[in-house]
Amino acid sequence: MSEIPIRLAEPRDAATIGRIYDEGIDSRIATFAAGDHPADERRRWLAGRPESAPVYCATDGGDDVLGWSALAPFSHREWYAGVAEYTVYVSAGQQGRGVGSALLSHLIGVAPEFGYWKLVGMILPENGPGLALARRHGFRVVGTHMGHGRIAHQWRDVTLVERHLEVSPW
Ligand SMILES: CC(C)(COP(=O)(O)OP(=O)(O)OC[C@H]1O[C@@H](n2cnc3c(N)ncnc32)[C@H](O)[C@@H]1OP(=O)(O)O)[C@@H](O)C(=O)NCCC(=O)NCCS
Repeated sequence: MSEIPIRLAEPRDAATIGRIYDEGIDSRIATFAAGDHPADERRRWLAGRPESAPVYCATDGGDDVLGWSALAPFSHREWYAGVAEYTVYVSAGQQGRGVGSALLSHLIGVAPEFGYWKLVGMILPENGPGLALARRHGFRVVGTHMGHGRIAHQWRDVTLVERHLEVSPW
């Protein structure tokens, strides 16, 4: 797929973003999040994000959202202000067609506009596609936190990846 349109998420996207996130929850390799999240909660989540935590949608050029991405400050500590955690989710039926790649490329491009000079990702070691996507975009594996959180009562590890951006002062 070439030229995948990407735009800022709008309030009307909250339900679709939530549906795609639910697929990740159900896979048990994408996120530590669990449970049901009512539509209201999804809307509040999207509306309540600060300017430093934008959400984007990849579309089919029309109304259909194929996937979404987000940046969020890595930490509330001021000395980490240049570091953001990225998130990329692609609808199950749209995976393997370059949508995730387009979303992550786009995040790498826009992150400096928000003052970020480094991106990190937290990926479960079992998440082959998530790690492949990160490596494809120049992220290096920092290491794996052991027993970092629980999914369905089971302790799970999480692998930290990082990439400095072009603007990095480091
Ligand atoms: C990870 C995810 C975003 C990838 O999105 P995608 O649209 O399927 O990925 P793309 O088609 O753009 O592929 C990106 C790269 O990853 C590789 N990749 C994707 N799926 C893969 C798989 N199942 N196995 C191995 N490599 C895979 C591709 O080969 C591609 O690399 P290449 O360009 O060198 O060929 C998608 O699987 C997803 O939404 N997963 C659930 C959410 C998640 O785990 N997010 C990651 C943590 S934030």
